[in-house]
Amino acid sequence: TPIRGADVAGTVEAIGKNVTRFKPGDEVFGQGRGSFAEYTTSGETGLAPKPRNVSFEQAAAVPGAGYTALQGLRNKAQLKPGQRVLIYGAGGGVGTLAVQVAKALGAHVTAVSSPENLEMLRSIGADEVIDYTREDFVDRGERYDVFFDIGANRSLSACRRVLTKDGTYVLVGASRHPIARVIKTILLSKFVSQRLLGFLAKPAPEDLVILKEFLESGKLAPALDGKYSFEQVPDAVRRLGTGKARGKIVISVP
Ligand SMILES: NC(=O)c1ccc[n+]([C@@H]2O[C@H](COP(=O)([O-])OP(=O)(O)OC[C@H]3O[C@@H](n4cnc5c(N)ncnc54)[C@H](OP(=O)(O)O)[C@@H]3O)[C@@H](O)[C@H]2O)c1
Repeated sequence: TPIRGADVAGTVEAIGKNVTRFKPGDEVFGQGRGSFAEYTTSGETGLAPKPRNVSFEQAAAVPGAGYTALQGLRNKAQLKPGQRVLIYGAGGGVGTLAVQVAKALGAHVTAVSSPENLEMLRSIGADEVIDYTREDFVDRGERYDVFFDIGANRSLSACRRVLTKDGTYVLVGASRHPIARVIKTILLSKFVSQRLLGFLAKPAPEDLVILKEFLESGKLAPALDGKYSFEQVPDAVRRLGTGKARGKIVISVP
């Protein structure tokens, strides 16, 4: 089995002969091949200098979920300053970064999550929060320009009901029947005025630089669910599997 793990932050130990951007000793973050390990490898475009103002753990929490939040909100949803975005399933790794990226893009953010996450979501910038155990977002009668669907467990029609006429729905999370949901989303979008989109985030060096700048300016301060030791990797994976992690789970390798 290949070693698991993609996101990474650490110190460059050695470089290939064509590498020009980094030297041994540099502190970097980004993605590698099999990062649940003491050493990993990466192409140089997969990494960027680690911002000095954050820890290795905070930096490691950002790349994959950060790409998803940034590419989903900026590229797919084309979120503009002043627009209203609903982030559904805001409490996890992607969600907590999406709240902060949406704020950095100048949007008004409503975060839907479970009760134990609401205070944290306010503290990282959500303008409004909805506890999905007590209130259905559909019943608020509010309209949003963008619906960022991380939870993906509500019907498309419920999601569309809270979108403006020309609003954009972005399917981010995997629903119980992921392929059927993607097909339905794409097919339906051909017949309605709203844009309904699915997407898969991709590593992009220019986006890693933007995420680095967000970290440096304090626009991103990753929420960490907990720090796990190398020996606790199975516990960390089990915790992720519950879907109840508050922010990102990070494994600290000494
Ligand atoms: N499209 C892409 O490119 C892409 C990239 C990365 C990840 N993903 C997908 O995005 C999803 C989240 O990934 P993650 O890394 O953030 O996982 P995570 O940290 O485990 O977060 C799980 C998410 O599911 C939500 N959730 C759980 N139960 C829910 C419920 N009953 N109602 C509404 N939401 C519920 C959680 O919301 P609360 O905590 O707020 O309840 C949380 O936001 C996964 O499905 C993952 O496969 C997609």
